Amino acid sequence: YIVNSIDDTDILKNSFNDEEIAFIKDNSISYEEITPYLQYKNFNIYNFNDYEKLRESDNYLEAINLFNKQDYYIPYQNTERAIFLDTNYALINKHYYIDNNYEPSNLVNVSNYNVKYIKRENEVMKATKEAIDNYQIMYDVALKEGIELIIYSAYRSYEKQEHLYYNVNFENDLYSAKPGHSEHHTGLAFDISTYTHGLTESFALSKEYNWLKKNAYKYGFIERYPKDKTDITLYAYEPWHFRYVGKNASAYMYNNNYTLEEYIIKNYEL
Ligand code: DAL
Ligand code: ZN
Repeated sequence: YIVNSIDDTDILKNSFNDEEIAFIKDNSISYEEITPYLQYKNFNIYNFNDYEKLRESDNYLEAINLFNKQDYYIPYQNTERAIFLDTNYALINKHYYIDNNYEPSNLVNVSNYNVKYIKRENEVMKATKEAIDNYQIMYDVALKEGIELIIYSAYRSYEKQEHLYYNVNFENDLYSAKPGHSEHHTGLAFDISTYTHGLTESFALSKEYNWLKKNAYKYGFIERYPKDKTDITLYAYEPWHFRYVGKNASAYMYNNNYTLEEYIIKNYEL
């Protein structure tokens, strides 16, 4: 049957105490309006009006998250420890960081794989096993189609990022993550390009980039810092930076044009 607005006291009693019911009635909130929120443990009826102001779609969870995490899209303000660490959808960005002694489990040497990568003196390139296993599959398919992908960078330690951020990128926050804030720390991120383009925006014009853009999601990878998402990722366009998230998540993000930040805030209680 259909529940009609305000006098649903008996139904409300299943979820709310007397004080909360008084609040609901004072604010003329109907049970129907509340229902979609009830499944979330972070839902607090006293914040109902704030959620509704923040809600942009029928995603009620996102509204709750936006209210509870008001710094989520603000760079380096009230930063927090990375979430979902050691899973494929670990979130590390300008809000979430890892400790300087963090090391992902399951790091393996890229040299054990049959892929092309940039070899640097005194450096062993590493990535997490599941990510590089799937990269290998992607690499082989691409190669058969005449696309040769080269890894420029995968896992990075805190110290390596420190060097890059201060000595190579001179604290340019649009292109480089502060140490602790780079998702390269997870071993799930890959900078991919060709020998001719390297890590420059001209890679975006290459057939290799267009192949990745069209196909990477089939192997569990997403373009991490797309051109039109700078206000969300808080990084400039980086056509070379791909991130392993696993195949289910990559397909979902690809089909909905979501970045990792959007995927997480819309689907998980934060
Ligand atoms: N260039 C990316 C954002 C990093 O430094 O992790
Ligand atoms: Zn990168």
